[in-house]
Amino acid sequence: MTYFTYKGILFPTVGSSVETLNYVENEFQLLDDDIVTVTYPKSGTNWMLEILGLIQHSGDPSWISSIPVWDRSPWIEMSDCLDTALKYPPPRFLTSHLPIQHFPKSFHHSKAKVIYVLRNPKDVLVSNYHFSKSFKGFQDPGTMEEFLEKFLTGNVAFGSWFDHVRGWMELKDRPNFFLVTYEELQQNPQDSVKRLCHILGKDLNSQQIDSVLENASFQKMKENSMSNFSLLSQEFFDHKKGKFMRKGISGDWKNHLTVAQNEYFDRVYQEKMQGVNITSYGTEEC
Ligand code: A3P
Repeated sequence: MTYFTYKGILFPTVGSSVETLNYVENEFQLLDDDIVTVTYPKSGTNWMLEILGLIQHSGDPSWISSIPVWDRSPWIEMSDCLDTALKYPPPRFLTSHLPIQHFPKSFHHSKAKVIYVLRNPKDVLVSNYHFSKSFKGFQDPGTMEEFLEKFLTGNVAFGSWFDHVRGWMELKDRPNFFLVTYEELQQNPQDSVKRLCHILGKDLNSQQIDSVLENASFQKMKENSMSNFSLLSQEFFDHKKGKFMRKGISGDWKNHLTVAQNEYFDRVYQEKMQGVNITSYGTEEC
């Protein structure tokens, strides 16, 4: 079984279980100085983790090039990662794909910072489609037509993109919630990194900022075995079928969706995202 269901949402069986999710939701204690990167899968999670890791080390790439990303910034919903997280001295860098209703309840009375990375959902769909072909923790996507239907109905790992984003956007006025888009990281990298430095309380000079940008570039991450998923064994990732660092661009959906599929996506988007004001997918229409 690739997935199990927890309170109506599909989760990958690899590394997680109902017990783990229950523990994370109800008992896991977030600390005031925790920094949690939260995303719907394929929104630029690992890119953000690379940037934050570099900022925390003032642009020095030694940490990100010597420790695998899942140990640097463990995913709290995965039991092995959770063990790592629990051993961490503060400040902890944590990661999660959990929808808000299953995120640790302790967040609501802590000052832990959540950095939510949002990406154009059509690019998320395409990235997820390709990733699902090689990552064995996700179900085989089938054809794009089949996967589109699953994606739009939330019948995929971590549930509906629409519900995930709607849920997290309810927190957008909280002082410890920060929204960053994949598209703004691409269009305005300098300003985005400066803003992230501010969020982390780090004062980097321009040389250090340049080093963050250079070492978190698509090309450098692609070459960094601690970040490019090449360490994942064949049991978890079929490296012949695809690469985790695939294209790293905005708007690739235009190369994958037919006109009819795109119109269908737009109709579902309009219906499901009514009342949610998101204007920041860059120049890409949604
Ligand atoms: P593509 O499949 O569109 O290439 P996540 O980390 O949430 O799983 O997201 C993975 C996506 O982020 C992939 O998208 C990957 O290529 C992209 N990505 C990772 N690092 C990146 C970087 N430094 N710059 C741009 N995109 C990056």
